[in-house]
Amino acid sequence: MGEQLSGMKRTHMCGELSLEDVGKKVVVMGWVQRRRDLGGLVFLELRDRTGLIQIVFNEQLSKEAFAKVQCVRNEYVLAVEGEVVRRADENINPNLKTGNIELYVTTLKIFSKSETPPFMVEDRNNVSEAIRLKYRYIDLRRPSMQDILMTRYKITRIVRDFLDKNGFIDIETPLLIKSTPEGARDYLVPSRVQPGKFFALPQSPQIFKQLLMISGFDRYYQIAKCLRDEDLRADRQPEFTQIDMEMSFVDVDDILTLNERMISRVFKEILNIDVKLPFNKMTWQDAMDRYGSDKPDVRFGMELKNLSDIFVNSGFKVFRDAVQNGGSVRAINVKGAASMPRRQIDELVEFVKTYKAKGMVWIQMFEDGPKSQIAKFLSNEEMTLILSKMEAEKNDLIFIVADKDNMVVYDALGHLRLEMGKRYNLIDESRYEFLWVVDFPLLEYSEEEKRFVAMHHPFTAPKDEDIELLDKDPGRVRAKAYDMVLNGVEIGGGSIRIHDTELQKKMFEVLGFTEEVAEERFGFLMNAFRYGAPPHGGIAYGLDRLTMLLTGTDNIRDVIAFPKTQNACDLMSEAPSEVSNDQLKELHIKVDL
Ligand code: AMO
Repeated sequence: MGEQLSGMKRTHMCGELSLEDVGKKVVVMGWVQRRRDLGGLVFLELRDRTGLIQIVFNEQLSKEAFAKVQCVRNEYVLAVEGEVVRRADENINPNLKTGNIELYVTTLKIFSKSETPPFMVEDRNNVSEAIRLKYRYIDLRRPSMQDILMTRYKITRIVRDFLDKNGFIDIETPLLIKSTPEGARDYLVPSRVQPGKFFALPQSPQIFKQLLMISGFDRYYQIAKCLRDEDLRADRQPEFTQIDMEMSFVDVDDILTLNERMISRVFKEILNIDVKLPFNKMTWQDAMDRYGSDKPDVRFGMELKNLSDIFVNSGFKVFRDAVQNGGSVRAINVKGAASMPRRQIDELVEFVKTYKAKGMVWIQMFEDGPKSQIAKFLSNEEMTLILSKMEAEKNDLIFIVADKDNMVVYDALGHLRLEMGKRYNLIDESRYEFLWVVDFPLLEYSEEEKRFVAMHHPFTAPKDEDIELLDKDPGRVRAKAYDMVLNGVEIGGGSIRIHDTELQKKMFEVLGFTEEVAEERFGFLMNAFRYGAPPHGGIAYGLDRLTMLLTGTDNIRDVIAFPKTQNACDLMSEAPSEVSNDQLKELHIKVDL
């Protein structure tokens, strides 16, 4: 049976012992990281969250402890009492923070044993992620995982402190809310008390934080769990965390200024980086035209160029049709890549097809002039104009895509640009390039639903000067919306909200909701607007993504203590799982597979 503390008190953390403690009698507690047995001497490395300390058992010092340590193996949990001793010079371990000392044990307690763990608690292990997630509690013992969660904690501490000093108060909002399907898919929770009815889990606290502004709280924040049943990608989780805030009586600039101060504070305190203020701003249109993305990575150039003008009346039908049908012809220039093997080029053509491009054309700038499979379809003048617009030089490789802008040309070239940037090492990983992307379109047309849908959410305010376009040309209305982008990642987004009932009604109208539908889904918010709403706006950050950038991991699961897999499962607890018939009966639910 495991021993009890029985009054024993820890005096130090393992990793905090140093030369200053030499000669002291100390008590440390932790897990066995490694064991070496030299016959008359047993060495253990003991680990707690601060690091490792070498502890030594020697029969002369304590017969009892020496006898007890014989059975101790990796991951046993111990307490040891002993004296801190300076190591002889030849025994110093420069790889260990406490490598110049060790602890000579006089008393040993074994709190609990461990079976042989499924993997060693070391950073340099190549265990599959599935095994790591199944035994997450062991995986989290690894120093790199502990560092990440420590950084995550520090981020929220800095943010809380900053927001507190700036007059924000932390208010919790409910987790069981009304389902308002506009955005991602809701997670639903059946009500037992109201058979046949369902709650939704919040995709964000959006409506509630607006209601808090209407209640006069002026400045709200929350580190809030958000739940979205959407298809998962490398930087998405079904359950993620936002740093969420909302402010009253402010305009776009007030929100941006305060937020860049907050984020620069985080980067200073965590990475000791001085971020340049104010952040650069780029309109959504510019971001799309120059980078083919609303979250551009501006650490390298290779900008998209618009070649449409050249092809308005071209004899080359593919390009002319694209332009005449309201699309465009755009290109990027990959410097020095002319001799890319044909097989690789073909792979890139397949790559852009995954972004709906029907094909891609290329021009290789060889010693003896440009070579392209479409050269024979272009006039000399057209070729000259392309090369001049692309600032083409010897050895360059130009890729051209023609199609609709949104969802095709921008997407295809934007992703190709990133791929080329990575492949040719054009991205300086040590740089942090912050950017506000502003003036998003308020609406985008959904081919699927045959109506306009809100690009952000239905409460986002249009720019004052564009309000009149709401009736005439909704697709051209720009929003008072902004995203904070860092190195090609959208870390946060927000907007000024509509605070006026009439404008909100108009917005629902443009979204194609009848008055009844609007009333049914958002009636409570519409009602609240009737009783005095201040101008307000806010923003929310993905805390997980922010932590990824601050800890340099590209796996969102690394920054969450207990994450879900790509298909939204928890491998450790095996959730989701089937439930008993009794549970279902109580909820009046029949499962029909
Ligand atoms: P939005 O939907 O843009 O805005 O979300 C804000 C930020 O949350 C992060 N994020 C995610 N992170 C991990 N996994 C996900 N599935 C996921 N989805 C979003 C992103 C994103 O920038 N209520 C509005 C905010 C506002 O207008 O104030 C909202 O939720 O980093």
